[in-house]
Amino acid sequence: MALQHHADPALAIVSNRPEKSPFNAGETVEEKLPRLRVLLLGSGGRECAIAWKIARSPRLEKLFIAPGNGGTDAYGTNVPALSPLDFEAIERFVAENKIDLLVVGNEDPLVAGIFDYFQGREGAPLIVGPSKAGAALEGSKDFAKRFMMRHDIPTARYQSFTAETLEEGKAFLHSLKAPYVLKADGLAAGKGVLIIDNLAEAEKSLEEMLGGMFGKSSATVVIEEFLSGIECSVFVLTDGNGGYRILPVAKDYKRIGEGDTGLNTGGMGAVSPVKFATDEWMAKVEERIVRPTVNGLIEEGITYRGFIFLGLINVDGEPMVIEYNVRMGDPETEVVMLRIASDLLPLLEAAAAGQLGSMPLAEDPRAATTVIVVSGGYPGSYPKGKVITGLAEASAAAADSILFHAGTKRDAEGALVTSGGRVIACSAYGDTVEDALRASYAAAEAVSYEGKYFRRDIGRDLLSL
Ligand code: AMP
Ligand code: GLY
Repeated sequence: MALQHHADPALAIVSNRPEKSPFNAGETVEEKLPRLRVLLLGSGGRECAIAWKIARSPRLEKLFIAPGNGGTDAYGTNVPALSPLDFEAIERFVAENKIDLLVVGNEDPLVAGIFDYFQGREGAPLIVGPSKAGAALEGSKDFAKRFMMRHDIPTARYQSFTAETLEEGKAFLHSLKAPYVLKADGLAAGKGVLIIDNLAEAEKSLEEMLGGMFGKSSATVVIEEFLSGIECSVFVLTDGNGGYRILPVAKDYKRIGEGDTGLNTGGMGAVSPVKFATDEWMAKVEERIVRPTVNGLIEEGITYRGFIFLGLINVDGEPMVIEYNVRMGDPETEVVMLRIASDLLPLLEAAAAGQLGSMPLAEDPRAATTVIVVSGGYPGSYPKGKVITGLAEASAAAADSILFHAGTKRDAEGALVTSGGRVIACSAYGDTVEDALRASYAAAEAVSYEGKYFRRDIGRDLLSL
């Protein structure tokens, strides 16, 4: 599909062609534009992929990643002591290092108000990420549902309850058919959604959630109708002024076990493109979901310059919203970055400045996949500090692969060791999803550490559609 939207002629660059070319031989327009000093916040596979993409930009002067991980330093300078939640320290770092652009990778600083913190401050950088009010689309499921109701955005029927309205909540459960979907209103590290087959158990879980099962996050619980269909992730980069670009569509695999079984994880793999997200389907997504979301934020006076993550489900051919997030997805980013052919950095700068204008975002026609190798035991408890080997072999085994680090770090001796549940995202290009998967799997086989596990069925459901 065409990826250019809201081309605004008023914002187009007017060419005042000078008498003499301002360019040296072989120099491009990009090389003449001011170079950017960028600070990227986060430490996961997502940030490693964003760092990889930003580092390819001719517009980049210097990239810092805070705190970063054992692989992000291949693309910039890690700042391990800088916490994404310590806004004062970030402000000092921005001043000392003349940062032009702050890219916020994960949701916590956004929900905590990093955008608002910098408003009106001297030397504030451009920020890719929404205001605190906008971040509530992820920070409060109740807010997100109300927003969708106000703007007629298709989503599951729902009601919200608190401890005071427990009995009404139980009555609402009785009005629904199994399975029952219970969601903690606030952030719960991806664990706040329960899907329960049995009514009595659902009532009990509602009581437990309202009683503090997820702390304050579940003081309000959203109960919603179960939707049946296949899911995908659509990412939108918006400039808060009605300009937006839709990024390549991806699908992630959340469960730990093959065939989508077992516990939910942060994500075990991803593929792009997604077969069922046809041009026709995406046109519905754009008309019924993307535009009402982007315009709804503006109508409500909510400043939002950054990524909107639409968790969508295809219900009998019709797209519906399962959830909003206010950042890129992980591991979707580890395929989406591969499929963006354009230079991302000027797009980030323009979005943060509120001026996407007609800047193009072109897709790479190749497919991309990622297979996440995780620590044994994840998403439950797992050991850390296991020495990782085989990365050079993994790269050699699959020419079109790129290994993004997630839970890795250097130990005191400089050895690369595991430091998280998701360890390495084995991303790869291919002419088709099958080709890309072959390369991702060749890389995943070659990476080595004690307790390594990965799912062997990433993308398989889409191949049989
Ligand atoms: P969320 O954190 O809201 O994305 O929910 C986590 C996962 O639960 C989603 O990716 C879906 O697989 C599932 N889920 C959430 N809401 C629903 C729903 N209304 N119907 C079916 N599945 C759902
Ligand atoms: N892959 C889903 C997420 O990032 O929330």
